[in-house]
Amino acid sequence: MKDKIVLVGFMGSGKTTVGKLLSKVLKIPFVDLDEEIVKRTNMSIPCIFEKFGEERFREIERKTLVEFLLKPKNLVISTGGGAPTYKNNMELINKNSVSVYLKTDFEKLWERISKDSNRPLVRLGKEKVRDLLKRRLSHYEKAKIIIRTDELTPEEVVKKILPEVS
Ligand code: S3P
Repeated sequence: MKDKIVLVGFMGSGKTTVGKLLSKVLKIPFVDLDEEIVKRTNMSIPCIFEKFGEERFREIERKTLVEFLLKPKNLVISTGGGAPTYKNNMELINKNSVSVYLKTDFEKLWERISKDSNRPLVRLGKEKVRDLLKRRLSHYEKAKIIIRTDELTPEEVVKKILPEVS
């Protein structure tokens, strides 16, 4: 097995849930980049956006991503929805891991994220968020493995990933 699996995809696509489950099944540690950023900065994500702006958040996110990608150990890493779209992050992910894009229909994503106050970009409103997903697709689609998750439970998504990474 390749030593790192990185989950990418839009907000609400289930990266954290699937990542935790996958790490349990594979018996390798799990890292959630957003959680790491919150721990390290001692600030919530909306607070970082508000105080320092999105660009600063992206730099912190990139630094955290690179640090984990370069760790000499097996890991399942779930990324924030914007991480693959910043600078050459997606290239770095592909160079250092098996990347998995959890591809989910926009309406389903919106249903899951629209009431979440912990995701600052949701405040842009439905149509702008739909556009954001469209602009991000070409980045996500560089992933080595693409899984359509629409009708699948997290357990079923993991079952689909396993043969691709074992
Ligand atoms: C973001 C997604 C969030 C978080 C931040 C920005 C994005 O992570 O990193 O709110 O730009 O799509 P999730 O994808 O885990 O919600």
